Amino acid sequence: MISPIKITDRVYYLGVNDRRKHLFENMWPLPQGVAYNSYLIVDEKTALIDTIECTVAADYIERIAAHLKGRKLDYLVVNHMEPDHAGMLGALVAYYPELKIVGNNKTFKILEGFFGITDNLIEVTDGGTLDLGHHKLQFVLTPWVHWPETMVTYDTTEQILFSADAFGSFGTLDGGIFDDEINFDFYESEMRRYYSNIVGKYSGMVQKALTKLKGTPVRIICSTHGPIWRSESSKVINLYDKWSRHESDPGVVVAFASMYGHTEQMADYVARRLAEQGVRDIRVFDVSKTHVSFLINEIWKYKGLILGSCAYNSEMHPMMSQLCNELLHISIKNKELGIFGSSSWNGAGSKALQAFAEASKLPLVAPVAEAQGKLTPDKAAAYDALAVAMAGKIQGGN
Ligand SMILES: Cc1cc2nc3c(=O)[nH]c(=O)nc-3n(C[C@H](O)[C@H](O)[C@H](O)COP(=O)(O)O)c2cc1C
Ligand SMILES: [Fe+2]
Ligand SMILES: [Fe+2]
Repeated sequence: MISPIKITDRVYYLGVNDRRKHLFENMWPLPQGVAYNSYLIVDEKTALIDTIECTVAADYIERIAAHLKGRKLDYLVVNHMEPDHAGMLGALVAYYPELKIVGNNKTFKILEGFFGITDNLIEVTDGGTLDLGHHKLQFVLTPWVHWPETMVTYDTTEQILFSADAFGSFGTLDGGIFDDEINFDFYESEMRRYYSNIVGKYSGMVQKALTKLKGTPVRIICSTHGPIWRSESSKVINLYDKWSRHESDPGVVVAFASMYGHTEQMADYVARRLAEQGVRDIRVFDVSKTHVSFLINEIWKYKGLILGSCAYNSEMHPMMSQLCNELLHISIKNKELGIFGSSSWNGAGSKALQAFAEASKLPLVAPVAEAQGKLTPDKAAAYDALAVAMAGKIQGGN
């Protein structure tokens, strides 16, 4: 049964929940699922803004048709070509052959690559408009948030921002769809996990986009994932501003890789010393246990990062390598870094971590703390110094 969900008089929410998929982009675990949001404006002209992932709702087109009550669909606005939103585009064009696809010049190259579609295109430039009758849409190009063709659509009539992935979140919409119908505590961490792993690499471009939209009155934010913001849109704008400025909270993530427990002991030791120094948010993770996306989420949140690895065949432990590669991949910035390690032959783990420090350009708060085998009192001074230096940096504020 379809019960239409109105955002305003002529604007409908047409999103779906995906509780089945295990890995988003075949990589990011979805313990709380994900929502793909699509929006329909039924005006003198009708326009759909983004579609959904193709595997989720077999009746998606039926739902659109039900909302249109026999009218045709005039426009499909493609804010973003990633298949979690453009997935139903081909089926939609087959169902509505006269449908005009609205995008920018970068959109159409990807469109052709995915669907072979080259007809019925309306190319818009930055600031371009589309008149639907009562609603007047304006397009703002926001390249690289997080694909090159990304744009947002601003409904000047009702001050609604259709923001593509920006302001999006993992997590399904379980009954509540609008920000005033949900408990945001459920979403905040998943929103940051989405941001840090998927969009965060392009934080500079997010800042550019936010600057571009500054001064534009936004009453409602309709993202392609997660809740619709109609009561407190400034909250999510402020969060995105904070995250994209790489601003973080005064806490420390201690992430370690350990085969037989010696490096883990060191992690616990350093964490205890941090607590004694007054650091209150300390999160210790075994990188072999916690998926890297959750590690990145916590690392994005906190100012301090301490990495510890056992040595492994003249390298750091491969699971720590994975975290370091991901941190380099997302261009991690503005963290205070500490390194420790345990080894038996040549200290390769901490040497490799040092190479990561250089590659990432993150400043080391103290010399590397390295010990052979287990941590003993005679070797503790370097670990103490690391904790004290880190606490000092953290408590010094952002
Ligand atoms: C497969 C394997 C490879 C290792 N490679 C090195 C190495 O390249 N350099 C080194 O100093 N120690 C190496 N070690 C020794 C461990 O890094 C060392 O014993 C360390 O204390 C183990 O820490 P853990 O108890 O946290 O796993 C290796 C051990 C194993 C099992
Ligand atoms: Fe995307
Ligand atoms: Fe997306």
